[in-house]
Amino acid sequence: MGKKQMGFILGFLFLDGLLLCIATEVHYYDFVLKDANFTKMCSTKSMLTVNGSFPGPTIQARKGDTMFVNVINQGTYGVTIHWHGVKQPRNPWYDGPENITQCPIAPGSNFTYKVILSTEEGTLWWHAHSDWTRATVHGAIVILPRGKYYPFPKPYKEQTIILASWFKGDVMAIISNSIASGANPSIEDGYTINGEPGDFYGCSNGTLSCEI
Ligand SMILES: *[C@@H]1O[C@H](CO)[C@@H](O)[C@H](O)[C@H]1NC(C)=O
Ligand SMILES: *[C@@H]1O[C@H](CO)[C@@H](O)[C@H](O)[C@H]1NC(C)=O
Ligand SMILES: *[C@@H]1O[C@H](CO)[C@@H](O)[C@H](O)[C@H]1NC(C)=O
Ligand SMILES: *[C@@H]1O[C@H](CO)[C@@H](O)[C@H](O)[C@H]1NC(C)=O
Ligand SMILES: *[C@@H]1O[C@H](CO)[C@@H](O)[C@H](O)[C@H]1NC(C)=O
Repeated sequence: MGKKQMGFILGFLFLDGLLLCIATEVHYYDFVLKDANFTKMCSTKSMLTVNGSFPGPTIQARKGDTMFVNVINQGTYGVTIHWHGVKQPRNPWYDGPENITQCPIAPGSNFTYKVILSTEEGTLWWHAHSDWTRATVHGAIVILPRGKYYPFPKPYKEQTIILASWFKGDVMAIISNSIASGANPSIEDGYTINGEPGDFYGCSNGTLSCEI
């Protein structure tokens, strides 16, 4: 999970005569963008991932914390990462849309995002923000409330669920062919839950049989 929980920032809030002490944490994560091979639905392809996983790693913080995410690009083309749903007031330079707030992070280089959480609570997601790279480069951002408070009874267990589309082909080729030809891009070949197409598809994650 990378280097984490380094410093504390202390703030004081005077509210209705009560002095509340608010300690926010700083988290450090490394994202290594690299190609990895995946076999799903009887077909193998190489695709861009964070740390070789699909979906990518979950990052976690508490409301009001700050996360530094060092994105190290070992892939073959430039991309950026967007922190979807994080408002980042007065911090647009780390929002991530390619060529709007920054140039793509070039292969062989790295860029550290300063992601400042403010009022967000719950599960958001991060994703690549360069054409269709987001199809394979994405993951969850879990933002817990401060303290031990949950706005509902404490759950028995927590499970993050990420729904996605699966394309057998190279997603970057699909969108660039579509732009070049003017035709609609081809639609996805299946849907995934936490990266798995599931038993309704033939040979969900293997190569041996395609009975459906
Ligand atoms: C990603 O991989 C790198 C290198 O193996 C590792 O140091 C880092 O902690 C990983 N990041 C996450 C968020 O798991
Ligand atoms: C993916 O598989 C191909 C063919 O076996 C191989 O040449 C390539 O090195 C693999 N890529 C990765 C990132 O492992
Ligand atoms: C962003 O700019 C770079 C460099 O000019 C270019 O290669 C890339 O295609 C641009 N990205 C988008 C999404 O237009
Ligand atoms: C690139 O990564 C190195 C090593 O992790 C780090 O010291 C440096 O600050 C990073 N550079 C940028 C621009 O994020
Ligand atoms: C397919 O996924 C299931 C469930 O995650 C796992 O148990 C199984 O080992 C996987 N099979 C292959 C060939 O990866």
